[in-house]
Amino acid sequence: MQEIKSVVDVDVSGKRVLLRADCNVPLAGGKVVDDARIKAVVPTVQLLLERGAAKIIVLTHVGRPSGADDSLRVAPVLARLRELVSSPNIEMLENLRFDPREEANDLAFAQELAAQGDVYINDAFANSHRAHASMVLLPTLLPSAAGLRLLDEVAHLTQALTPPQGAIAVVGGAKFETKIPLFTKLMAVYGELLLGGALANDMLKARGFPVGGSFVSDNAVPTELAADQRITLPTDLIVSDVAHKAERSTLVNDIRINERAVDVGPTTALAWAQKTKEAPFVLWNGPLGIYEEGFVDGTRLLAQALVDGTAKAVVGGGDTAAALSGMQFDAERVFVSTGGGAMLQFLADGTLPALEVLKN
Ligand code: 3PG
Repeated sequence: MQEIKSVVDVDVSGKRVLLRADCNVPLAGGKVVDDARIKAVVPTVQLLLERGAAKIIVLTHVGRPSGADDSLRVAPVLARLRELVSSPNIEMLENLRFDPREEANDLAFAQELAAQGDVYINDAFANSHRAHASMVLLPTLLPSAAGLRLLDEVAHLTQALTPPQGAIAVVGGAKFETKIPLFTKLMAVYGELLLGGALANDMLKARGFPVGGSFVSDNAVPTELAADQRITLPTDLIVSDVAHKAERSTLVNDIRINERAVDVGPTTALAWAQKTKEAPFVLWNGPLGIYEEGFVDGTRLLAQALVDGTAKAVVGGGDTAAALSGMQFDAERVFVSTGGGAMLQFLADGTLPALEVLKN
């Protein structure tokens, strides 16, 4: 297999380095709300400075703007990065997605960016599934390599694709149909796949359970997948009535027509927490409940079990990472990926478009 070129092997002394980061972080009132993705790029910034880079020009996108949008300017991101690494040699270009040519993967845009640097480093793992100009064209125009965080992400996720015997995978969230290739890939190497969130609704429906007014995908689950006994579903759920008035926990065969599943139930949460404590390795992406509506208990319980346990783990996805934030744990044992979609696509495909262009 071709190796991804590393920043460690690039001569950056006296050079202007274009550092593509994924500082796509939540902003509110001109402040960064969660700086995990900014912190993730700090080791590469420090390495570049130690190795004498003349200037580090950080490139990032923030949000999904259509044209310039004052609420998505990079100023707060740059301010936070400068708090973390104090150097006069760090600059940041304005949000790349203010220019539609970024997402259109436009060559002229990539050439304009390339003219501002001598070397390109990609440390934006979380955006490496996007075939955008700064991700896949720009690296073809300059000497290019991967940053430390990107290499770390690839190493941990590659490990997650060859897990030890008895390892379990946990996948939550929604969009069942987009995750079928991922399930197929994971089931080839994991003994058990625990499904939570809306993904579990689809599977429960396919297995003949009532789902009431729960969120389900438009497409039916393929029959063979529905019958696969390596997929474990919740045995109980927290349901709320559709008017959001009352919640109760119930067995999965007893959801009423006017109810929807909002989280895994307490029995399931405890059983799954126990499984993660017994497994040698756990891969986890996606919340077990409707996290954005505050149904976080199942997800938090599982996060706590991982932190308290001894299993090696690779965890990713915004809500899953949020559940772990604030908890104390050994980051080498429990690796929290910065990627959401990028993590899932890497697991399904074993690579990403922006990684391919960094191979020798
Ligand atoms: C992410 O947050 O997953 C990446 O920054 C990609 O962002 P996008 O989903 O808006 O392309």
